[in-house]
Amino acid sequence: MRRDPHSYADDEQAAVEHLSWDVDVDFESRTLQCSADLRLRGASDLVDLDTRDLTIEAVDDGKSALGWELAEAQPILGARLRVHANGATRVRIRYRTSPTASALQWLTPAQTAGGVQPFLFSQCQAIHARSLVPLQDTPRVRITYDARITAPTMLRSLMAAADKGIEGSIGHWEMPQPIPPYLIAFAVGDLESREVGPRSRVWAEPSVVDAAAWEFAGVDDMLTTAERLFGAYDWERFDILTMPPSFPYGGMENPRLTFLTPTLLAGDRSLVSVVAHELAHSWTGNLVSNASAEHFWLNEGFTVFAERRIVEALYGVDTCALQAAIGRRGLDEAFERFGKKPELTRLRTKLEGIDPDEVFSEIPYEKGYLFLRAIEEAAGREAFDRFLRAYLGEFRFGAIDSDDFQRLVERELPGVLEKVDGKAWLDGAGLPAAAPVMRAKKMEAVEAIAAAGRVATEEEAAEWGATEWELYLTALPRPFAECEALDARFELTKKGNYEVLVAWLTLALASGHEDVVPRAEEVLAKVGRMKYLRPLYGAMIARGGETRKRAAALFERVRATYHPIAQQVVEGLLAAADRSDKT
Ligand code: BES
Ligand code: ZN
Repeated sequence: MRRDPHSYADDEQAAVEHLSWDVDVDFESRTLQCSADLRLRGASDLVDLDTRDLTIEAVDDGKSALGWELAEAQPILGARLRVHANGATRVRIRYRTSPTASALQWLTPAQTAGGVQPFLFSQCQAIHARSLVPLQDTPRVRITYDARITAPTMLRSLMAAADKGIEGSIGHWEMPQPIPPYLIAFAVGDLESREVGPRSRVWAEPSVVDAAAWEFAGVDDMLTTAERLFGAYDWERFDILTMPPSFPYGGMENPRLTFLTPTLLAGDRSLVSVVAHELAHSWTGNLVSNASAEHFWLNEGFTVFAERRIVEALYGVDTCALQAAIGRRGLDEAFERFGKKPELTRLRTKLEGIDPDEVFSEIPYEKGYLFLRAIEEAAGREAFDRFLRAYLGEFRFGAIDSDDFQRLVERELPGVLEKVDGKAWLDGAGLPAAAPVMRAKKMEAVEAIAAAGRVATEEEAAEWGATEWELYLTALPRPFAECEALDARFELTKKGNYEVLVAWLTLALASGHEDVVPRAEEVLAKVGRMKYLRPLYGAMIARGGETRKRAAALFERVRATYHPIAQQVVEGLLAAADRSDKT
């Protein structure tokens, strides 16, 4: 039976348990020439694998050829590769990837900090691993792997796995802990590292690596804090790779090697909660995984919860509440975005026929977080912490759905789900009326100024950090008539902190303060993080007229520098505006 709407994996067939992956990286043709040697648990006549845009060259069981058929590609799932395994416990596939593989971004030297060498990286979550490796691309099937990457000698390859050494142009890795396929990850580029702790090293291009090592110097404190909160760290190392600016996410929790956007390099360590978030995934997500994208909140809601527990322990309860308040604003915006599709604002979703990238939003993050806070408040922190340990212990190295979660809460915290109306949280649209509200002293003054719709005085803002600024700028009513005065006083257009800068540019654009358009264009030409592309393109398009035309023209010019997933997002925004012209 197929149990994940985004995979052809059939749980009555043999499951892949180990992958031996051999990869030859060719920057010229933008392809990977590969061999995937799959070891199967159990035996079956047929094994259905997920693929996308792969060219299959040969399939055998190590000795003799096996029959196979590649079905016609479907828009979201890709193409089913059916192997006639005839009971074999090994399936070896020789194949190559496509230059447009959805998991890969091939960067020209001009798109890197150094400007001399090309760069390649993978991003497999949610369902892109299949464009790299033919396998059962569902988190229900965990695999261990070993890998060999051959890349040009001037470049360094890295994998989110244990480093087993490099000889000449060939690197070796091993991933002894079973992982869901979406956590397979690698990068190739001009990379250097700095040691920042006994278990941590920071990787980046040479011109960026010192700044990155400084920004993320606190990672070992985070790691020990997280272990105190959630139990022993199971992945041995926690290294960080600072990506080129086109990386489409803030961070990606690839095991042992978290990928981070360079927009976190604010020079003041003000954005390190993203590190806390990706680190927290080592427990929530990587150890206990959502069984499919329909239960994505189990990954992200739990991780935001765990992230904020780390933030609270390290920086205090006020900072935590401030970040939760910003999260809450993002959640309300997401509810608006899905106004016409309220079923997508549930925690437990039905995603058959829906591309997980297309419905990505803050809802599973922030609504999931609030659900867990509601349970914590009802049960008390001590009892909730016992539940959390039980959850991690019970499901470690497993994949669960919302029912599994419900059953465990009922067992560990009987009556609590009913008390918080768990059903409304999981299967209802929007937010239950009794949702927890986070308050903090720091916040009230900031929100009062924003609510009054006025420009803060220099005195009032003297102590504001990036988070207070972000809260103020997102809370101001829009259109805000005094953008010019605000910018004159605080020079927001010149800010280098991307969270603050993008919050400002979004407010200014939404308020018709066109002076900021060049700066917005500058950001959009440099950075491919979707969290920034969405609001900036969104606001420029919503302005209509000249500004909308400039957004479309800019996208035409820089589109090729964006990650394939980011291209899709901006295309979607432009297409939606075109559609609404017609109605
Ligand atoms: N796992 C996500 C990124 C992701 C989600 C990639 C879905 C592909 C599909 C990662 O942990 C994440 O949530 N990143 C956030 C940062 C976080 C602090 C909320 C981001 O990228 O903004
Ligand atoms: Zn996350």
